[in-house]
Amino acid sequence: MMTDILVAENINAPALEELKAGFTVLVDPNLWKSTEKLLAQVENCRALMVRNQTRVSAEVLAAAKHLEVIGRAGTGLDNIDVPAASAAGVVVVNTPDQNSMSAAELTLAMMLALARKLPAADRNVRGGGWDRQSFIGTELYGKTMGIVGLGRIGVLVALRARAMGMQIIAHDAYISPDSVAVTETHARLMELDDLLGESDFVSCHVPLTAQTAHLFNYDRFKKMKPTAFFLNLARGEVVAEQDLIRALEEKRIAGAALDVREQEPPAAGKLSELENVILTPHIAAFTREAQDRVVRSVCRDVGLVLSGRAAGNFVNFSRPRRHENRNS
Ligand code: MLT
Repeated sequence: MMTDILVAENINAPALEELKAGFTVLVDPNLWKSTEKLLAQVENCRALMVRNQTRVSAEVLAAAKHLEVIGRAGTGLDNIDVPAASAAGVVVVNTPDQNSMSAAELTLAMMLALARKLPAADRNVRGGGWDRQSFIGTELYGKTMGIVGLGRIGVLVALRARAMGMQIIAHDAYISPDSVAVTETHARLMELDDLLGESDFVSCHVPLTAQTAHLFNYDRFKKMKPTAFFLNLARGEVVAEQDLIRALEEKRIAGAALDVREQEPPAAGKLSELENVILTPHIAAFTREAQDRVVRSVCRDVGLVLSGRAAGNFVNFSRPRRHENRNS
């Protein structure tokens, strides 16, 4: 039986309920876990709505004979084969910027938590301790913040770090020194290896691409100061996790905060045993406000495409392009 909208992950918000007035919606929050089930279900839908866990591969697209639009409730597109979607004439929409503020705020929270060893101090008190000497931290004030990727989130982080009295340096392979991002943040642009050597905090805000996969490896961590902290709230695969563990164990860096992992959910491992590491389950975008904006935005665009109108936040094209060999 045909369904208008197939939701393959946990997406539930008033905006999705509103879509049900005009379209049939099937929500299976666990569908992303089984490729076999996804392939079977996707055959009979016009729209597929996902977060970052569903692999929308060429195989899934080939099975999705009636698909018109993929709605990505979030920004990153690394789980969607966009070229394959484009070749199949399927519109891809995402929700750029709707969760950037939440990601930036969590980055600041992580920096403060690292600098003041908050999780370990909390564990100490809960364990019956009152060990003040072990929890001498550092101030952010006067320190150098190295931002890798001065895009939407990087800029918001930089502006907030400046308000804390930090110096901003940045590396971004795609922006020019006279860009608004650089001017607004007063960032000094530099090569990545120079940034690593100068920063007290290095925060990664790049998308996952062929160029950024394992960008942070052992050689890069070795270039950081032994007192510096590393943060990744972007994509897990940007960091060679075993290399990070080695750098932490050898005390090449002072600590790390990771909201994203090479494998999600991750297997139990060494990182969870290290005191100077903060781990969260990919929650940068998980605030009430961001989720409200994200779901509203993706529902609006999916609704528009299914009603024969043009999408707003399209990644490839605004209306489906039917090819002769599809939908026949
Ligand atoms: C994003 O790409 O928007 C965030 O990482 C959150 C998500 O993946 O859903």
